[in-house]
Amino acid sequence: MMLQALYRVAKPVLLSIDPEGSHHVVLKTLGLIPSISMVDPPGDAFTKAGLTFGNRVSLAAGFDKNAIAVPGLTRLGFGSIEVGGITPRPQMGSAKPRLFRLNSDQALINRMGFNNEGVERIGSRLSQLRPHMCVPLGANLGINRDTPIGDAAVDFTQSMNRLYDSVDYFVINISSPNTEGLRSISQEDRARALLGKIVEERQRIFQAKSRYVPCLVKLSPDDDAQTTENLVRVIEELDYEGIIATNSTLSRGDLKSAHRMEAGGLSGKPLFEAALAKVAQIRSSMSRDLLLIGCGGVMSLSDAQKMRRAGADLVQLYTGMIFNGPEFVEELASQLT
Ligand code: FNR
Repeated sequence: MMLQALYRVAKPVLLSIDPEGSHHVVLKTLGLIPSISMVDPPGDAFTKAGLTFGNRVSLAAGFDKNAIAVPGLTRLGFGSIEVGGITPRPQMGSAKPRLFRLNSDQALINRMGFNNEGVERIGSRLSQLRPHMCVPLGANLGINRDTPIGDAAVDFTQSMNRLYDSVDYFVINISSPNTEGLRSISQEDRARALLGKIVEERQRIFQAKSRYVPCLVKLSPDDDAQTTENLVRVIEELDYEGIIATNSTLSRGDLKSAHRMEAGGLSGKPLFEAALAKVAQIRSSMSRDLLLIGCGGVMSLSDAQKMRRAGADLVQLYTGMIFNGPEFVEELASQLT
């Protein structure tokens, strides 16, 4: 409650400074909340894919890339938190400016390019956090910019090994539009080869540690229907536990804001219909009841309910929280069934 009140006071300032600067201020403020003050989230818990989620609203990747604000984020009411994208080595990401607010479209465009402190530092943070967690903690994994796409498995498995004891689930991100070549992995043969190596490694670690960490794959809204269908088949055959649909989009549609032609991934309201259609397609292509997380442009309870009806077990959000304020999380989490 105090956080929400603070946000109301600070909102005019936050919306007047540059988006990355205001993001930084919000994260730093949330980061002041200590882990001992983590509380049970609102709404009803449910279990799927071996994970017990606090409710059906989750934080999407990219908001807390370095896991510096997890206790504060749990206080907002999320039923699960995904940190990252994390790469093996620290990297600066793209040149600034690289995050744009499209106010009249209720959207963001970002070309952050996996700026993060790297798996070692983030791993130390996560290992300290995990014992205090009251909701599942996921790690979104990416690859370093200078890693040849043919070596992607090395990056993913290195991060997986480092983080295995410190998180509840992994997300293999093959859909970020801001790392060259990453999306080419959507092609069936490449996906099978890469995702196969990753689950093989997960199996090896599981046998050594006797603790099973579910793996999800995050898909793009820009894949054509056949590509998505092939990916769902590959993901099922390889025994992944679930899918996140979707990442941000490269398509632009009908936007009004001045920044509409900036390069990068578009998120928020204009993404919703495409993400919803992907969720529906993926659910109907599945032959097993895998965990399906709907993500992209959830700006209201009605959007979240549409995602649920299309087959999502829960929703993730990022941009909706920017435009509706932090109170949106609790509002949604207490009402979405
Ligand atoms: C993202 N997103 C993202 N996704 C991912 O898998 N790994 C990442 O590192 C990031 N980074 C990132 C940074 C920024 C600034 C934004 C706005 C988004 C994508 C995000 O998780 C989500 O899939 C999309 O933003 C769509 O959801 P919303 O924002 O419309 O709710």
